[in-house]
Amino acid sequence: MDILTLGNELLRQKSRPVKKIDDHYKPLAEEMLEMLHRQKGVGLAGPQIGVPERIFVVHIQNDEPLVFINPSIIETSEEKSSYEEGCLSVPGVWADLIRPARVKVQAWNEKGRPFTIDADGILARVIQHEYDHLEGVLFIDHLSNAKKERLLTKYEKLSANKQENQ
Ligand code: NI
Repeated sequence: MDILTLGNELLRQKSRPVKKIDDHYKPLAEEMLEMLHRQKGVGLAGPQIGVPERIFVVHIQNDEPLVFINPSIIETSEEKSSYEEGCLSVPGVWADLIRPARVKVQAWNEKGRPFTIDADGILARVIQHEYDHLEGVLFIDHLSNAKKERLLTKYEKLSANKQENQ
């Protein structure tokens, strides 16, 4: 499995709900977490590895890894916060984004058990970023046109350099 990057159409598709959380999802979640660790990321969503299903994993340092299947964000705080975001699918660039500071999320884990989380701080941020992936949305879509363009120019330069050095 490879992580798909910007320009791949699969990243722009809305993912489908998981119909039944069967035995297949435990190894999938494990594989996604392994990939996340290898890439030193904090979150990874199904569509990023070409699996167009509503699943993402989150692992924030010193916390337990979390698997979210068919998640719903059921509450968002009025209060907003600013965090610098990046994405394994848009490697090498980061931008400050304003989003709700806290979210309440309902989901199922890889064993089919339902759970609800009240998240704040970085966890709330990562959950919102990963949830976006299930909707075909990338963090750069939240930027103003001017900022998005600047970021994409930088990204394209980085990609061109990488290819030259290969
Ligand atoms: Ni991402």
